Amino acid sequence: MKLFDLTGKYAIVIGGGGGIGHSMAQGLAQAGARVGIASRNLDNLKAVADAFKKESGLTLDVFQVDASDEESINKLAQDVKKAYGRIDILVNSQGFNVKFPALEFDMNEWDRLFSVNVKGVMMACKAFGAIMAEQKYGKIINVSSVRGIRANAGGNSAYCASKAAVDMITRCLAAEWAKLGINVNAVCPALIATPMMEKVMAEPGRAEQYTRNIPLGRLAKTEETVGTCLFLASPASDYVTGQMVYCDGGLTAIG
Ligand SMILES: NC(=O)c1ccc[n+]([C@@H]2O[C@H](COP(=O)([O-])OP(=O)(O)OC[C@H]3O[C@@H](n4cnc5c(N)ncnc54)[C@H](OP(=O)(O)O)[C@@H]3O)[C@@H](O)[C@H]2O)c1
Repeated sequence: MKLFDLTGKYAIVIGGGGGIGHSMAQGLAQAGARVGIASRNLDNLKAVADAFKKESGLTLDVFQVDASDEESINKLAQDVKKAYGRIDILVNSQGFNVKFPALEFDMNEWDRLFSVNVKGVMMACKAFGAIMAEQKYGKIINVSSVRGIRANAGGNSAYCASKAAVDMITRCLAAEWAKLGINVNAVCPALIATPMMEKVMAEPGRAEQYTRNIPLGRLAKTEETVGTCLFLASPASDYVTGQMVYCDGGLTAIG
């Protein structure tokens, strides 16, 4: 299936040691790409890469980056260019959540969240987009969320606003960079049990309450975001850009 074949492609997954990024990195490698994973915690990245090597025989290269720091992101782009000579696929899966009731929102925490979830995504698009523009080819996949279009009352204003911003960055860059040969899209999952969601999942009855709103009747596994990622990374999506693809069990279809 040449449509989904990534042989000869080079990919970098920022947040590739986390739940969703890790699954996407594995999927890209299994589809034939050479894949690097990047984040702050190098020990975790190495452990993730070692475990995958044992399981599959495939390699994930590891790179350190702080996605809230433009210098660090620019250095990552240079390191990746030096190692691979090019970059075909960028996945932005870095992100986290902090919750406060709106009247008590700590605005330093708001800034900290935006520096990774929003500015971090934009800075990575900028740094790797420059390389892709030279090549006249690239696929950027931002990991957004159903929270970009569905609010909730759980102290989630910073996170929801950050994902709405990621959606609009995705659309704007898709429009601006189409002529450069760069496709920019987003994968938008609903709730998945990853380290980021540990606290939420520990709340009694929370998973069951959430599942009631999902037509498919269950939460997703991280692996269930991989098909969407592969579609957006591969020639199968060459005529798709500026889109939010919801792998959410139907949640946003009914809300
Ligand atoms: N889980 C869900 O229910 C869900 C649903 C929809 C969307 N999402 C989105 O999916 C993405 C991945 O989340 P996840 O659930 O997989 O969470 P996760 O397991 O906590 O992974 C998040 C990753 O982001 C990295 N990261 C955080 N801050 C960073 C920084 N300053 N620089 C570089 N990397 C940083 C972390 O690595 P280090 O700590 O090593 O830096 C970690 O690998 C996020 O954008 C999240 O908003 C998650």
